[in-house]
This record gives sequence, C-alpha cells and structure tokens, in this order.
Amino acid sequence: MTTQLDIAKIRADFPILHQTIHGKPLIYLDNAATSQKPKPVIEALTQYYQEFNANIHRGIHHLAEKATTAYEQTREAVRAFLNAPSVEQIIFTRGVTEAMNLIAQTYGRQNIQKGDEIIISTLEHHSNIVPWQILCEEKGATLKVIPINEKGELIIEEYQKLLSPRTKIVSVLHVSNALGTINPIEQIIDLAHQAGAVTVIDGAQAASHLEIDVQALNCDFYAFSGHKVYAPTGIGALYGKKHLLESMPPYHGGGEMIKEVTFEKTTYNELPYKFEAGTPNIADTIALKSALDYVRTIGKNTIAQHEDNLLAYATQTLQSIKGLRIVGQAEKKISVVSFILDGIHHQDVGILLDNEGIAVRTGHHCTQPLMKHLGLLGTIRASFAMYNTTQEIERLAEGIEKAIRMLR
Ligand code: ALA
Repeated sequence: MTTQLDIAKIRADFPILHQTIHGKPLIYLDNAATSQKPKPVIEALTQYYQEFNANIHRGIHHLAEKATTAYEQTREAVRAFLNAPSVEQIIFTRGVTEAMNLIAQTYGRQNIQKGDEIIISTLEHHSNIVPWQILCEEKGATLKVIPINEKGELIIEEYQKLLSPRTKIVSVLHVSNALGTINPIEQIIDLAHQAGAVTVIDGAQAASHLEIDVQALNCDFYAFSGHKVYAPTGIGALYGKKHLLESMPPYHGGGEMIKEVTFEKTTYNELPYKFEAGTPNIADTIALKSALDYVRTIGKNTIAQHEDNLLAYATQTLQSIKGLRIVGQAEKKISVVSFILDGIHHQDVGILLDNEGIAVRTGHHCTQPLMKHLGLLGTIRASFAMYNTTQEIERLAEGIEKAIRMLR
C-alpha cells in the first residue's frame, strides 16, 4: 500500500531547489550523479560542528562520547536500511568506488590466483571495472563480461555460459547508472553461488529507489554511496558476510584499526573497525543517518511510486519528440532516461538545457565500455528524484525542442 507524495512539502525541505539559473527556475534532473540534500541533513552537519565536534572512539570527554554515539547510531541506521544481520557487518567507506577497491584489494588479493575469472557486465560503471582490472593484472586472472541485449538488459543465458569452476567473483551493479536498467540480481547471485563464486553488488543507483534486503538477496557484499540517497558526499557503506569480512586482511593501516601495535607486529581490531583506519568522515556519517531517516519517514515505496510515474511520463513525452531516441528500454527501470538526438552532439544539448535552468548529465556517464558497445560517444541523461514533477518534465521537453530548433 503506497500513499501519495506531498511534493510541495518535500520541495520545501530542499533549499537548493528554490533558485533561478540563468534567470530560469532551476530544474534539477541530475540525480543519478548526486541527489540534493534536505534540511535535516544540512542541519545535522551544522549541529555537529556547532555543538559536538570531537574525534570518535578515542576520548572519554563529553563531546567525544556524544560524537561517538551519533556516529555509531548511523551504523545502526545503515544496518536497518540494508536489513543486515549486525552492525559489525557495516563498514563505512567514502562510497561505492572505495568499497569496490577495498574488496578487490583485500578479499581479491587474498583469494584470486592465476587463471581465475571475475565476471562483471557490459553495464558497469568504471568503479566496478577498474579495481578488478588492477587485480586481474596483478594476479594473472581474467575479466569476463556479461553481454546485454538491445534493450539494455543483461543476457542471463550468456551469463550462465560464462560461469565455471574458474569463476571466483561475480561483481555487478544492481541498477545501471547510464540506462536505468534494474538487473535481476537475485538470479545473478543464485547462479554465482551455484558456481561457487562470491557476489559483489554495486548498489549506487539502487539504494535511493529500491528496498534493499541483503539477507533476502543472500549477496556476499553490497555497497552504496550516501550522496545518491540525499546524504552528503564522501560517505557510503559496504555490507559483507561476517565470515568473509573476518577472513579478509585490512585495507588501510593506521589508528583505530588496531588492537595492539609493537614495532615487531600489529594485531588488528575487530569488525567493523579493522577496515576503518584513521579519523573518519564523522560529520557526513552523522548526517547520513538524517538522510536515511528522511527517506524512511516518507517511505521508499511511496518515493518509488512517484518516480515510476515520472519515468512513465518522461518516456512517453520524450518519445514523441521527432529525432529523439531513448537509449535503454529495459522492462524494469528506475527513473533514468538516457537519450540522443539525431545529428546533434549531446554536449551542445546539455549547454542549451543549462541555459534554460535545466541540469542534466551529458557524456559517457563513467561507462565508456558501455557507450562503445552502443556505438555512442555519450548520451543526455535526465534522472529523477522524489522532488521532481511532471511540470519539470514538460519544461525539459520544451528545452529539448528549443535545442533542436537552434542546433539543426
Ligand atoms: N556515477 C555517477 C553518475 O552516473 C557519478 O553520474
């Protein structure tokens, strides 16, 4: 059961939306790059710096205890957000990129050997390609890539053919940032496990749109970035199965991740601290809880329903523009519409839309291999969040029509 979103009330919570750009009201449609931040998130940052800025886990004074409590409350909020079994399994990272590098450089370096194979997909963001390439190069392992069909969906039969006893890791994104495709990750995870491989899921685009339940998914690792879920940049989280996290060596060495240090030998701290060396990003971590609380209070299903309506409306509206082709027409998509215009460079459209106050992303979206596969240099991408409206989509369509008139 979903309720209707009170858009006016939500928009009032996002101060940044109420401004003009080049004399036009801002229409922010670059949410897949980063979402805007509601007042409770901004206030959490200010409150931390004004009232209880202190280093965590180290001091016994009042401010240190207050900061530590708030920081650890976010870990519990993330645990609940992912339905992870325990807070020990939640490692704070800067975001998905750092999480992927962490897994590749710890689990990967420990377990991957010459001749092993790692499977990713054609849809991957660079953050889920390059860390595995670095590992494969070092270890003499091979990267295999699941192909996609013309709609931008993974071809599961081809994936099954890639799986073998050599497959040690399957790492795929939950949702494509460039095309919006929602991957059948339950099936991907099951098949990987049947082949004896460990699964890594990049949840960067999924976390703000879909309910995530890592226990139901049975994935081995799941990562998301806070800044795409209305939280500040520079904070995200990695979930991992406990026996895997326990068996992995640390990623970074330094303070906090140790139990005891001598010049001869160091013993490492328990989970999750073993993976959190140094003074962390305390303020942004605390504000992440405010973002997750904000999303929970409104309800992911309610948000998703609104975004699905926006996607349907945008697809229908943009499709009727002559010379416009939507790239990525998967049956299951989140609210991302990537498109190209016949004979017009994506960047020129981006500049003209910006003149109309409309923010979209243009280019390869950090998915150069996908763009190459599609035979494109890039696309124009409009991505919607809970505060976007159908009126904004109409303005986008008008902006595109105007760009076409000017550029043809
Ligand atoms: N991964 C982000 C995007 O798709 C930055 O724009």
